[in-house]
Amino acid sequence: MMVGGKGRWVGGLVLLLILLGSIGEQGRAWAAGESAENKKAVATPDPEDKITPLRGLEHLSRESATCASCHREKSPGLYQQWGASRHFTANVGCYECHKAEPGDADAIKHKDFTISTIVSPKDCATCHKREVSEFDRSHHATGAQILGSLDNVLAEVVEGAPLLNGQSPVVVSGCASCHGAFVKVRSDGTLDPATWPNSGIGRINPDGSKGSCAACHMRHSFSVAQARHPNTCGRCHLGPDHPQKEVYEESQHGITFFANQGAMNLGSAKWMPGEDYITGPTCATCHISANRDLPVTHDVGERISWDLRSPISVRIDERDAKKGRENTRSWLERRKDMKTVCNSCHSRTFADNFYEQLDAFVTLYNEKFAKPGAKLMKLMTEEGLLTKTQFDDKLEWTWFYLWHHEGRRARHGAAMNGPDYAHWHGMFEVANRFYMEMVPEIREAIEKAEHAGKKDGAAKVRAALEEILNSDYHKWFLGVKSQGQDAKPADVKSHAGK
Ligand code: HEC
Ligand code: HEC
Ligand code: HEC
Ligand code: HEC
Ligand code: HEC
Ligand code: HEC
Ligand code: HEC
Ligand code: HEC
Repeated sequence: MMVGGKGRWVGGLVLLLILLGSIGEQGRAWAAGESAENKKAVATPDPEDKITPLRGLEHLSRESATCASCHREKSPGLYQQWGASRHFTANVGCYECHKAEPGDADAIKHKDFTISTIVSPKDCATCHKREVSEFDRSHHATGAQILGSLDNVLAEVVEGAPLLNGQSPVVVSGCASCHGAFVKVRSDGTLDPATWPNSGIGRINPDGSKGSCAACHMRHSFSVAQARHPNTCGRCHLGPDHPQKEVYEESQHGITFFANQGAMNLGSAKWMPGEDYITGPTCATCHISANRDLPVTHDVGERISWDLRSPISVRIDERDAKKGRENTRSWLERRKDMKTVCNSCHSRTFADNFYEQLDAFVTLYNEKFAKPGAKLMKLMTEEGLLTKTQFDDKLEWTWFYLWHHEGRRARHGAAMNGPDYAHWHGMFEVANRFYMEMVPEIREAIEKAEHAGKKDGAAKVRAALEEILNSDYHKWFLGVKSQGQDAKPADVKSHAGK
């Protein structure tokens, strides 16, 4: 708030002059006509609060015209972004988005108005109901619910400590910046810096709604063209554990996109593959945008059949059922939808064969490395060869690298046509981690347990390990049969379940 100091008074006068200078003839006439009013305004302790809406903004609500007239000077960048947006042309102003009721958790008194700084999906839903309800049922909306995950132990305990209002700075600047914070309002109505600014995808807002539309539709331009660009998704979907952006960039899709970016018509209203552009589908093309058979969806999981991020991949409906989410559409339906995307540019056989390649790849990862690895880790914990504390044993880090980093990279590479990720950053690393670290570390743990008198447990783990190493997948490692030699385990076909 402005108080009456001399410097402030002069500042206010300068602002008034700038305002007058910038509104031209009409403005000057207005200023002359209202000079008594202006004098009065200048004489009050807070002259800026008496902003009169600028000419040219009359088509807005009176409230919004007032906000805009002052913020045009106070925050020119923000004002210009909004001025260039569809919202401006549709007469949607500051107040339509920022207005609040006095009882709202994050309501603040601002000039003559009650507003909130946060504009949640619930606020957008006044005008965009469909997008908000689709978003609300997506995995994006639950992005902040990562408490209790293994990764969370890392951020809170292993890497972190609760230094910022009870939160670990690693969570605040890391996890929550992608996943979303639980936004807290302090008793004075301001937002807790441990939780805001934040535009993580599944942010929990003070009004209880989930998500931040600004995660993809950056304020204040809210442009669809930008949301369709792969870099928008790449803000979160990148790095050692989910390199979708890097995979995309090395795929033929990414290459043709960047080579033909000028011909992509990113701002077109319907933006259909095969009509508005003919090369380089982006993340949005495949996961969100419309085509001849499908409407736009804000549920990014709608066209996905596999869960490619858990230690062991399962069909997406099976995974949801385990988590108690009912009525998830079947993976087959989802896959059919994704194929309609491919069929805008590729033949049916092409898309069908692509999915056979993907299923075989995921099945190989699951059966050869993930299931055996998970089984051994579980048994070792049960038998006391590993402590219950996470990440205090080297083997726990080894296993985490195997599935959470390398195993995901491999699967994401195969799903989105990045051969370098499928192989060199993927399965090559998985195999190296399994044979050169996991197996020796398990053997070491068995010996240690034997010396410590845990004979039963050691024997059980040794038997399980030997059974796995003697299976068709792994016996090459024992020198029993050379790799690849008629090694065609029967379950590859039966698990593909296409
Ligand atoms: C008379 C000038 C004036 C008017 C009218 C005005 N604002 Fe502001 N507003 C400001 C100033 C100054 C700030 C502080 C800027 C800063 O902190 O850099 C501000 C801050 C804000 C903030 C950020 C608050 C925070 O804590 O981060 C929002 C949101 C906002 N205004 C929205 C609005 C809306 C919506 C309206 C109309 C209903 C409006 N303003 C009307 C001058 C004004
Ligand atoms: C379409 C809805 C919409 C409109 C219109 C809109 N805003 Fe916002 N505004 C948002 C969203 C979303 C945020 C992000 C806040 C959050 O949720 O974290 C935001 C944030 C802000 C912030 C604080 C964040 C920052 O970057 O400093 C200010 C100040 C602000 N808006 C002012 C305005 C003003 C002034 C106008 C009119 C010129 C305006 N807004 C129009 C949706 C809107
Ligand atoms: C008061 C109604 C209203 C509110 C509130 C509102 N919008 Fe809009 N929005 C519109 C209208 C009207 C259009 C223009 C539609 C058109 O041009 O076809 C639009 C267009 C859009 C577009 C398309 C922009 C483009 O480049 O084509 C996006 C994205 C969008 N809004 C997002 C949001 C988000 C996110 C929020 C909340 C932060 C929000 N809107 C709040 C009315 C609203
Ligand atoms: C750069 C952004 C980013 C950061 C930082 C980040 N994540 Fe993630 N996280 C993601 C994305 C994107 C996914 C989804 C990956 C996928 O689908 O392949 C994800 C997936 C997850 C999952 C799996 C969710 C599921 O439904 O299976 C968990 C749990 C998780 N993250 C927790 C964390 C924790 C805890 C931290 C901090 C230690 C963290 N993440 C840091 C972006 C991030
Ligand atoms: C994961 C990124 C992402 C998030 C988060 C997101 N959107 Fe979108 N949105 C898009 C993309 C991409 C498009 C363009 C779709 C297309 O190609 O037509 C879009 C389009 C839109 C449009 C234009 C009309 C339409 O359906 O094509 C509106 C309105 C819109 N979004 C509103 C919202 C609202 C409201 C939210 C918050 C609940 C939101 N969006 C969250 C990516 C996102
Ligand atoms: C602000 C961070 C962020 C942005 C931006 C973002 N995502 Fe995500 N996305 C996530 C996180 C986190 C998850 C994992 C959520 C979970 O399962 O808990 C995820 C999950 C997904 C999933 C898996 C959904 C499922 O049902 O399994 C898809 C597909 C996806 N995102 C696509 C996109 C696309 C396409 C864009 C860009 C248009 C995008 N995302 C932008 C953070 C983000
Ligand atoms: C040519 C289409 C296409 C493009 C382009 C594309 N994807 Fe995918 N995406 C797929 C397919 C196919 C799958 C696997 C589908 C299945 O499970 O059936 C997938 C899976 C995913 C998943 C799920 C991973 C998991 O852990 O479960 C995420 C997240 C994702 N994509 C994000 C992105 C992002 C971000 C981009 C852009 C950088 C992108 N996609 C580009 C087709 C595409
Ligand atoms: C907007 C058009 C478009 C869409 C949609 C599209 N692609 Fe492509 N795709 C291309 C182009 C262009 C190429 C590059 C062809 C070349 O390099 O000769 C390509 C290449 C490929 C390749 C490599 C082909 C090869 O010969 O090595 C695969 C695999 C692929 N796409 C799979 C898919 C899948 C799966 C989908 C659906 C999930 C899909 N594409 C959707 C345009 C598209």
